Amino acid sequence: MARITAAIASSHVPAIGAAIDNGKTEDAYWKPIFEGYEWTQQWLKEEKPDVVILVYNDHASAFSMDIIPTFAIGCAEEYQSADEGWGPRPVPLVVGEPDLAWHIAQSCILDEFDLTIINKMDVDHGLTVPMSLMFGQPDAWPVKVVPIAVNVVQYPPPTGNRCWMLGEAIARAVESYPEDLNVQIWGTGGMSHQLQGPRAGLINKAFDNAFLDDLTANPQRLRDMPHIEYLREAGSEGIELVMWLIMRGALGDHVKPLHRHYHVPGSNTAVGHLVLKPE
Ligand code: DHB
Ligand code: FE
Repeated sequence: MARITAAIASSHVPAIGAAIDNGKTEDAYWKPIFEGYEWTQQWLKEEKPDVVILVYNDHASAFSMDIIPTFAIGCAEEYQSADEGWGPRPVPLVVGEPDLAWHIAQSCILDEFDLTIINKMDVDHGLTVPMSLMFGQPDAWPVKVVPIAVNVVQYPPPTGNRCWMLGEAIARAVESYPEDLNVQIWGTGGMSHQLQGPRAGLINKAFDNAFLDDLTANPQRLRDMPHIEYLREAGSEGIELVMWLIMRGALGDHVKPLHRHYHVPGSNTAVGHLVLKPE
């Protein structure tokens, strides 16, 4: 039987990918960010997950204003790194896990969560930057990936509570998969940041740290948090944090935090990172 053994949350920032790809991880600006992921890189070598269900958002790379799925699942054999304007990142091909992905699609859709099925797409920094932060620069990624893409770019994004319930449905799907797989679920994006308008550059350390606390201490508060609160407190792009609630919903009521990291700034973003185990 497949089982979700642990979860990771992490911000994504394109400049972090560029720092890795251009050999700048030891630079004074970047070093404190990467140091916070060293514990996790080591832990992942021991945990050896087979598959990561990677909840992320596309930034108008695979999708556009033409098609905006609220929740989508990648069922492809493989995913190329997207060209976001500077050529595709020089990272390994992301290898999918189509059998598990189709099982999750079937289980969730019959469980009344209507995921859009994607059989071909490129993946942008939203997916590849967390992979690089956790695994560094290997020749091949050591895990297969089931991408879950969430619309947080065009209003209206899904509510936090809906994200939580999707996480629960994904956990039910994984539990009913007969193959013996060690599965992790990752929630990515966030934390506070705003890339546009008069409040560009907004960071809110108090909000971010309360969010990190409450993923363990009071997840109900986060389930109930309305979009306007993300917008006001965490900036327009802070809404990416709702994706962390899909990860958290998949873990059940009680979790144990194993590792936590927070650093400001990473480009325009507050970089937050958490490793959780279900209890
Ligand atoms: C930045 C952060 C993001 O989440 C993103 O998608 C693009 C840029 C930034 O901080 O520069
Ligand atoms: Fe983003």
